[in-house]
Amino acid sequence: MTQKAIGILTSGGDCPGLNAAIRGVGKAARGMYDMQVIGFRDGFRGLVENRVVRLDNSALSGILTLGGTILGTSRDKPHQMPVGNRTMNMIDVAVDNYHRHHLDVLVCLGGGGTHKNAYRLVKKELNIITMPKTIDNDVWGTDVTFGFDTAMGIAAEAIDRLHTTAESHHRIIVVEIMGHNVGWLTLGAGIAGGADVILIPEIPYDIKSVADAVLGRSRAGKRFSIIAMAEGALSQEETAQALTKSKKGSKKKNRATSEHSDLAHESASVRLARQLQALTRLDARVTVLGHLQRGGVPSPTDRLLATRLGTACAELIEREEYGVMVAARGESCKAVPLAKVAGRRKTVPLDHPWIRSARLVGTCFGD
Ligand code: F6P
Repeated sequence: MTQKAIGILTSGGDCPGLNAAIRGVGKAARGMYDMQVIGFRDGFRGLVENRVVRLDNSALSGILTLGGTILGTSRDKPHQMPVGNRTMNMIDVAVDNYHRHHLDVLVCLGGGGTHKNAYRLVKKELNIITMPKTIDNDVWGTDVTFGFDTAMGIAAEAIDRLHTTAESHHRIIVVEIMGHNVGWLTLGAGIAGGADVILIPEIPYDIKSVADAVLGRSRAGKRFSIIAMAEGALSQEETAQALTKSKKGSKKKNRATSEHSDLAHESASVRLARQLQALTRLDARVTVLGHLQRGGVPSPTDRLLATRLGTACAELIEREEYGVMVAARGESCKAVPLAKVAGRRKTVPLDHPWIRSARLVGTCFGD
C-alpha cells in the first residue's frame, strides 16, 4: 500500500491547543501509520498560495505546550479571497494545490467559519477532516472545543483579580469577555469567578434589572459588583432594534447604523458601565480582556483534548473515513458528518444546567 499524504491547516482566530492538536495528528500519522505530513501556512490562504511547510519529527517536537499555531492562521475564505484589490473565488486553485501535493486528506483545524469553508471543499470531492477549536466553544456536534478551557481559566483569573480592586474602591467593574454570538466563555468564567451579574447574547438584559441587582448588593452591605459581560450581549431594547433592522433588510440596516454611529463607536461594555453609573451612583470601570484570552500556554485539559482529537483524527485517516469532524463525546471521540456541522452554531440553551446553578447561587442574568 502506498504511503498516505496528509495536509494540515489552521484557520480562523487562533487559540491555545492548536499546536497540541497538530502534534497529535502528526505524531500518530507519522509514527504509527507511516504517513507523510505537510502543513499549509496561514489557513486557506496558504493552501491557495501553495505555501507549504514539512511537518517532520523535528517540526512536531516541543510544541505541545506552545500557544498560537506554528502554521499561522487567517480568516480568509477560499470562495471569497482578497487578491490584490479584488475579491476572487479561489476554490479551484485550492483544489489544484491539494492535488499538486497528491494529498489523501486535508485536515482543517478551526471554528464555525472553518467548518463552512471545509465543507465547500468536500463538495469539490476533496477528502477533508476537521477538528473543533475555538475559545467560544460554539461548534455544533462536539461536547467541547479545545481552547475553551484555557480561555475560561484566563477570564476567571481576571475576575478574581478584579474582585479585590472593585471591593477596595467600592466600584462596579464590567469585565468584557470574548463571544460575539454565544456566551459559553462568559458564563463559565463568570460562574467560576463568582461574578454577580452575567450577561450573554442568549439572554437579552434589562438595564433596570442589572441596576437593581447592584443596588440590592449595596443595601446588603456589598458596595461593589462584578459584571461579566460577553462582547455580544445586548439589552432587550437593542435586541428588538436589531431584529427589526434585520427584518427590514441590509440597505435599511446600513442607514440605521449610520444614524446611530455614536452608539456604534461605543462598545457594549462601556455603554453598560456608563448607564449603571448613572442609575446606581456608584463608580464604574470597564476591563476588556480581548486577545489576552486567546494567548499563551494551553491548559492541561486543552492539551489532553487536542491530543485525543488529533490522534483520533489520524485513526480516521487510516480507516479512510472522510468528510467528518472529530468531535469530543464524553471520554471518546466521534466522527460527525461535516454536512451536519457546517453552518450550525452551538449557543447556550436557556435551560442549561450552568445557568440553573448560577441562578441558584443568586447570580443575576439581567432578565
Ligand atoms: O472566534 C473567536 C474569537 O475569539 C471571538 O470570540 C472574538 O469575537 C473574535 O474571535 C475576535 O476576532 P479577531 O481575531 O479577528 O479579533
